[in-house]
Amino acid sequence: MTLIDLPLLMKDAVRGKRSAVTCALKCANQCASGPCNHSDNSTFRDVASAALTRRRVLGGTSGAVAIALAGTLGACSNPSEGGSGASDGGSGSGAGGGAAPNGSALGFEAIAPVDLETDEFTVPEGFAWHPIIRWGDPLFEDAPDFDWNAQSAEAQERQFGYNNDYTEIQEIPDSDGKRAVMFVNHEYTNENIMLPPETDEAAAIEIGMAAHGLTVVELQRESAEEPYTYVRGGELNRRILLDTEFALTGPAAGSELTRTAEDPEGRTVLGTLGNCAGGLTPWGTLLSGEENFHGYFRAAGTSEADKRYGLADEATARNWEAAHERFDARGEDHRNEPNRFGWIVEVDPFDPESTPRKHTALGRFKHEGANVILAEDGRAVAYSGDDEVFDYLYKFVSRDTYVEGDTEHNMTLLEDGDLFVAKFTGNSPDEEIDGTGAVPADGAFDGTGEWLPLVLDGASQVEGFTLEEVLVHTRLAADLVGPTKMDRCEDVEPSLATGRVYVACTNNDGRGTEGEAPVDEMNPRAENRDGHVVEIDEQGDQTSTTFAWNLLLVCGDPAQGDQTYFSGFAPEEVSPISCPDNLAFDSVGNLWISTDGAPDGIGYNDGLFRVTLEGDARGRVEQFLAVPREAETCGPIVRDEDRSAFVSVQHPGEDGEWGAHTSHFPDYDGTGPRPTVVQVLPA
Ligand code: FEO
Ligand code: CA
Ligand code: CA
Repeated sequence: MTLIDLPLLMKDAVRGKRSAVTCALKCANQCASGPCNHSDNSTFRDVASAALTRRRVLGGTSGAVAIALAGTLGACSNPSEGGSGASDGGSGSGAGGGAAPNGSALGFEAIAPVDLETDEFTVPEGFAWHPIIRWGDPLFEDAPDFDWNAQSAEAQERQFGYNNDYTEIQEIPDSDGKRAVMFVNHEYTNENIMLPPETDEAAAIEIGMAAHGLTVVELQRESAEEPYTYVRGGELNRRILLDTEFALTGPAAGSELTRTAEDPEGRTVLGTLGNCAGGLTPWGTLLSGEENFHGYFRAAGTSEADKRYGLADEATARNWEAAHERFDARGEDHRNEPNRFGWIVEVDPFDPESTPRKHTALGRFKHEGANVILAEDGRAVAYSGDDEVFDYLYKFVSRDTYVEGDTEHNMTLLEDGDLFVAKFTGNSPDEEIDGTGAVPADGAFDGTGEWLPLVLDGASQVEGFTLEEVLVHTRLAADLVGPTKMDRCEDVEPSLATGRVYVACTNNDGRGTEGEAPVDEMNPRAENRDGHVVEIDEQGDQTSTTFAWNLLLVCGDPAQGDQTYFSGFAPEEVSPISCPDNLAFDSVGNLWISTDGAPDGIGYNDGLFRVTLEGDARGRVEQFLAVPREAETCGPIVRDEDRSAFVSVQHPGEDGEWGAHTSHFPDYDGTGPRPTVVQVLPA
């Protein structure tokens, strides 16, 4: 089998209408082999800890949160000063009009949903889109220009990688707003549309490997009214590849579980894989989550750990194990190589010589990403979702505290601390959660929760697990303490305006099906096609071990008859939304959601949506843009002060093949699609 033989890889792979190519290449057909989580958690209701009512715990809301809310509520009715066709909100466009909530400068008239066969990037009236950097664009002066028909690993190593996902842009200090540094990860590759069919397998493996990893690249612009362009040869430009050394940090670094024949110390890992979402730390570094790493390894597949992480004795989609023996983990020498992936990585974009890190203290699972907020006492609190059906939500609280201006110290904060996993309890009777998504009688999907400890004060809290085992086999450890099985936690993002935490649960078509966990109040829809968004209100400050929660959104398309919930906002006035994935906030605390999978659900191209969180319009969803066909929308960055937003367009035209491309984004010159970071700003 060659890399281009996708039909073989895709057989029996697809669940629902998910693209077979995505199933094969992105997550190694994980859903075809069923859930990895066979623990009893959430398969029956635990009523004992429902004693705390939501009303009681809400009484503990911190003063800081209350003040922040007062500030935004007062601004809520301000009309937009910008945007095209700004209206008074709540009427007009069918998506709630173009008012900018909470005084944001980014007013726009929501776009209509875009049919899934449309190969266009769609923006609101009065806006334009601009590609900043595309797969293959040369990063260095000596890098070759991209040539579809002359690809090589050597070229790709010096060019922008494939399938840009998490994206962040930071201004370079003292540059008068004209220079910035952008960090982008490259989650996976679509060899079927990247490479000419005559590419031999050995070359395809090396090119594919070189297209993974991370990119740091400088940007420049003339003014805030002009789009950014990337700087070829910028001083900060960097590709992090599969031969780049990463330092393992934290309690599991150097443990028996991380040692291999090539790295007997167990402290230095080559490369990073499956990077999905990420987060900007308060100290200016970037975090990125190693998600579907299992798809790159052939393993014995017989241990409980292998099974729980989806590692199997099967040829992988890309067959890297044929060329590089460390991807064949069946033998003793490389048995632990998969244990060196599945971490949160941290990169300092301002130091191209720095060694990136993998932080074992945050646990090992299929990390979507991680986002950090500082607690009142200065400890760093990181939230992270395990993106697999019926897996869990985690929180890390650092041992040490943040020191303003001391980046070297702050970069150690994620090396030691406490690790928790979430248990949710609903407050409505079980019989009112009927699996349709209909709101229970008390008017909300809501309740309380606890952060269950896995690690406290440097010690395992899980019977039978050492500290190192908790961190390396986190899923197995978590299974034993009774957390809640979730509908695929993607991005988990705390609002810096309110401290509340938002969790995108993207979908789970197995929810409530035979032999699987039933619906519950926090995952209330059976065979959950369109996903939902959870809002968590920590009781006390961010380090609290109890929380209140409610569902902000139950997604879908009300116009197609889907049972949806928009925090009480009129369903006929929202943009339809499905499969929430990445989250971001604008400068005034509105939530922005990018989606991955809407074509399979509501039949529209994926996009970027603004959600009002405060005031009478709480729950209003307005679509800002749509990406071209077969792409997901990733890495949203919203600069509403500049009336600008950025997204990464990942896997456009992924169902095509060489010579029969289904997308020609972004150049529309007859060639195939290229994943691209795009800026949208007023025309
Ligand atoms: Fe790579 Fe969870 O999406
Ligand atoms: Ca309720
Ligand atoms: Ca994602």
